[in-house]
Amino acid sequence: MTDVHATPHIAERSGIFRIGGDLPVHRLGFGAMRVVGDGVWGPPRDRDEALAVLRRAVDLGITFIDTADSYGPQISERLIREALYPYADDLVIATKAGLARTGPSEWHKLGRPAYLKQQAELSLRNLGVERIDLFQLHRIDPEVPLADQLGALVELREQGKINHIGLSEVTVDELSAARAITPIASVQNQYAPSFRQSEDVLEQCEKDGIAFLPWAPVARGEMAAPESPLASIAAEHGVTPVQLALSWLLYRSPVMIPIPGTSRVAHLEENTAAASVRLSEAEVERISQFLGS
Ligand SMILES: NC(=O)c1ccc[n+]([C@@H]2O[C@H](COP(=O)([O-])OP(=O)(O)OC[C@H]3O[C@@H](n4cnc5c(N)ncnc54)[C@H](OP(=O)(O)O)[C@@H]3O)[C@@H](O)[C@H]2O)c1
Repeated sequence: MTDVHATPHIAERSGIFRIGGDLPVHRLGFGAMRVVGDGVWGPPRDRDEALAVLRRAVDLGITFIDTADSYGPQISERLIREALYPYADDLVIATKAGLARTGPSEWHKLGRPAYLKQQAELSLRNLGVERIDLFQLHRIDPEVPLADQLGALVELREQGKINHIGLSEVTVDELSAARAITPIASVQNQYAPSFRQSEDVLEQCEKDGIAFLPWAPVARGEMAAPESPLASIAAEHGVTPVQLALSWLLYRSPVMIPIPGTSRVAHLEENTAAASVRLSEAEVERISQFLGS
């Protein structure tokens, strides 16, 4: 396996996708939900390690970081600023709003326009930017008309406070309803080699050139467990199961931007080295068959 210490910017080997047509990122990104406390609440257990993870991500050539106002809340965005500000010109930071937090592991959909605008203002301040590159509606709130939720984001874009608009956990029908209101640059749905319920959404994104950001791409660590379904094929390949999972995702679609999360530098390095794993079409097919599709 490629040595990450001897290979600067290894993430660039994952190729490039242009989010919204004009924001180029290396396709293997980083999810910053795990740099906060348990239950995605409060400060991280090891603050120095959390800052080191963020700095190492950029050293490794990662140019796309996903976060949200609700991670902490606010703590993930503030740590990103502390670790990485002033930001490299090629770094794209995506954040989200639309989930209110009342305690550890407690999440509530909240899409009222005033709330979404307030959270965008807080994200601008916490990240220390004048414009958010990609602002994602974390969930569609069924209690608020979609046109009002997206209307708030369109206003923010018209004011120059956000660049592109993304969605999270949507169906194909919700994606097309949203696109009737405004251009959508990205969709973030749960997706992993072992969890492919959003296959239809991925196909739609591929057809329309929309970035697809699979969340929990290594099945929240399940792919790394000794009983990982990918353990035997990974061993044959001389890579770890997590690397095989991430590599499979990168091969699965050119619009795929995996955002694996971790709180540890060693895991970040292992995950990012997946950018240099090469699979043949036959191997990708074999893994797909093996996992049951
Ligand atoms: N849009 C949404 O609704 C939504 C929901 C959830 C997440 N997300 C985003 O998606 C990102 C990824 O999702 P996720 O963090 O839930 O799941 P994930 O990336 O599939 O897995 C993260 C978990 O796996 C462990 N892990 C990662 N790499 C590992 C390795 N090489 N070996 C062993 N364990 C490893 C991590 O523990 P360690 O910390 O010990 O490495 C962590 O507990 C998040 O960070 C966030 O940005 C979005």
